[in-house]
Amino acid sequence: MSHYRIAVFASGEGSNFQTLVDAGKAGSLGGAQVELLVCDKPEARVVKRARDAGIPVHLFTPKSYPSREAYEAEIVEQLEALNIELVVLAGYMRLLTSVMVDKYAGRLINIHPSLLPSFPGTNAIQQALDYGVKVTGATVHFVDGGMDTGSIIAQQSVEIMPEASVDSLAKEIHSIEQELYPRVVSWFAEGRVRLNDRQVTILPYK
Ligand code: GRF
Repeated sequence: MSHYRIAVFASGEGSNFQTLVDAGKAGSLGGAQVELLVCDKPEARVVKRARDAGIPVHLFTPKSYPSREAYEAEIVEQLEALNIELVVLAGYMRLLTSVMVDKYAGRLINIHPSLLPSFPGTNAIQQALDYGVKVTGATVHFVDGGMDTGSIIAQQSVEIMPEASVDSLAKEIHSIEQELYPRVVSWFAEGRVRLNDRQVTILPYK
């Protein structure tokens, strides 16, 4: 049986990318495999991770295009050529335009290091500490045209201890992300995710 094909978009460290690649190779991603990394930063650690894992990379420099739409159109061509079924953002530090969002509506997800709708945007972990909340976490959501505003697919919480720092909390959130994201990708690969009027339902196994 042919597998379920995903592309990961990332700009930085790539720990979520690595987890998804490893889970795919180990057969624990519901039959999904990472087929492509899309990255806007040639020097990012995630590029080396992809090369080491033998995953093709679509690397681009945003400044050399006339518009965001122009580089996204090129990305869409790549995704279509590889028959990508799900686009997975994992630390991709750019807002998407309607070129990507419309084309991949319902097949485009992101992971964010807070319990949305609290603390969208950048520095979510710092925002949570500054606010003084006692619980935060990670959210996987569909991507729409806004900043972290799409329908929520899954969340996992983490308690904030009095001595927590941005670094210690980031570490804890990363570790729950690395459990949560593969689980959600498997749901997609198994055809179990339904989106209806902003409400997401995960169907039970048949
Ligand atoms: C993660 O914390 C994710 O929630 C956020 O960016 C971070 C990416 O980390 N969107 P990594 O590059 O996967 O290590």
